[in-house]
Amino acid sequence: MKNMVSIGLLGVGVVGSGVISLIEQHQAKLAHQLGCNVHVKSALVRNPNKTRDVDAATNGTVLTTNPDDVLNDPEIDVIVEVMGGIEEAREAILKAFEAKKHVVTANKDLVALYGAELHEAAARNKCDFYYEASVAGGIPILRGITDGFASDHIEQLLGIVNGTTNYILTKMHHESVSYEDALKEAQELGFAEADPAADVEGLDAARKMAILGRLAFSTYIDLEDVDVTGIEGIELEDLQHGDNLGFTMKLIGFAKFDGKQVEVNVEPALISKDHPLADVKNEYNAVYVYGEAIGEAMFYGAGAGSMPTAAAVISDVVTVIKNMHRGVTGSQFVEPRFKKELKPVDQRFGQYYIRFHAKDEAGVFSRISSLFNEFDISFKQILQNPSKEADTAEIVVITHRSSLEKMQQALGALNKLDEVPDIKSFYKVEGDAEA
Ligand code: NDP
Ligand code: HSE
Repeated sequence: MKNMVSIGLLGVGVVGSGVISLIEQHQAKLAHQLGCNVHVKSALVRNPNKTRDVDAATNGTVLTTNPDDVLNDPEIDVIVEVMGGIEEAREAILKAFEAKKHVVTANKDLVALYGAELHEAAARNKCDFYYEASVAGGIPILRGITDGFASDHIEQLLGIVNGTTNYILTKMHHESVSYEDALKEAQELGFAEADPAADVEGLDAARKMAILGRLAFSTYIDLEDVDVTGIEGIELEDLQHGDNLGFTMKLIGFAKFDGKQVEVNVEPALISKDHPLADVKNEYNAVYVYGEAIGEAMFYGAGAGSMPTAAAVISDVVTVIKNMHRGVTGSQFVEPRFKKELKPVDQRFGQYYIRFHAKDEAGVFSRISSLFNEFDISFKQILQNPSKEADTAEIVVITHRSSLEKMQQALGALNKLDEVPDIKSFYKVEGDAEA
């Protein structure tokens, strides 16, 4: 067993600075757990002269701009990739595996796109590859679902896995802040990605749901298997109507596996105020897991930020070092057991919220209701108010459970009715007793 395990860090930004600080702060605890010291020997940066949140030199870490100084150093056992981006990070990790170094990363973009290739390279080189921090920052959700649910069948996951969109929706709902102002605040507070399109268009959440789905269901879900809708089009009116009907709008990642077929999507959904996810506010993340044996469990906490994310990274480093000491490296989070089979749209079911305008005349509502009946869809809740346009009413309905395919057909037919000038919005409903 080594007296000292040396880490090579790729990136000393928000997360990398936290990794250096936490390792130094908790040396004694780590040494007690692992029976050896842990040290960040060198770190790759773009600009070594930049002022940073951590003074790397004081901690004995050498900064370099040459990746090979880190990747080819024979004293370094574990590479921690927290530089972000895709191509350079991928190339560096593949090089690290070829050099027989274990890898820990927080890079969800990379793992969602190239997870299979990286797992294969890790296995071929008998290296460990872990990425706890890539989903929901500081929440130990990946180890939670792989280890905690080891003897269980996970049926379904509902996740609020993007802090930026949760912050925006919370501010819009509870403080009537506009979408644009709330997004600006999230950027100033540092939750948003460099290009916040990835947050608001749902792509960041889709990457995390692809990773979660793979581990929960032991099947290889690709990013393009995740249906994605973002929050850009959400209007304050829908948040208010949802509120009146007992729901809160959230960007929800949804993943379900019936033992054979899988469905994964990310979309703004109205979640019942009775459901624990409705109380997850601001930038917080949470993942709600439905296990056959355990029942329902919720993992809640900080989904981003220097220290929470660094703590998750170091939990992976600790696992790697324990594996090194036991001589069992090469083990990984995911070893797919099932061939992927996606659930077709006619087999996907849910409850839905629809807001539309209709002529305010006798018999119109009955025609609309008959139209939905033709597709086996009935209404559970209805709100009707005069709309801003003359002789028109604004109608909001929550349906009973129906197939998504029939719902899409019904909306197509509704759109063609002369009495319905426009369909304003359509959202899934989650967390209701029948959803
Ligand atoms: P930052 O932008 O703060 O830091 C990136 C660091 O990597 C910087 O030190 C930068 O150098 C260095 N770097 C980037 N590209 C290169 C390159 N080509 N060559 C050399 N050095 C490079 O990123 P974060 O710390 O915020 O994020 C890191 C990773 O963690 C990302 O994958 C992100 O998605 C993930 N993550 C981040 C979370 C967060 O809360 N920030 C939460 C969960 C995951 P320099 O400092 O000189 O510019
Ligand atoms: N932009 C991401 C979020 C950061 O808002 O959740 C953490 O992955």
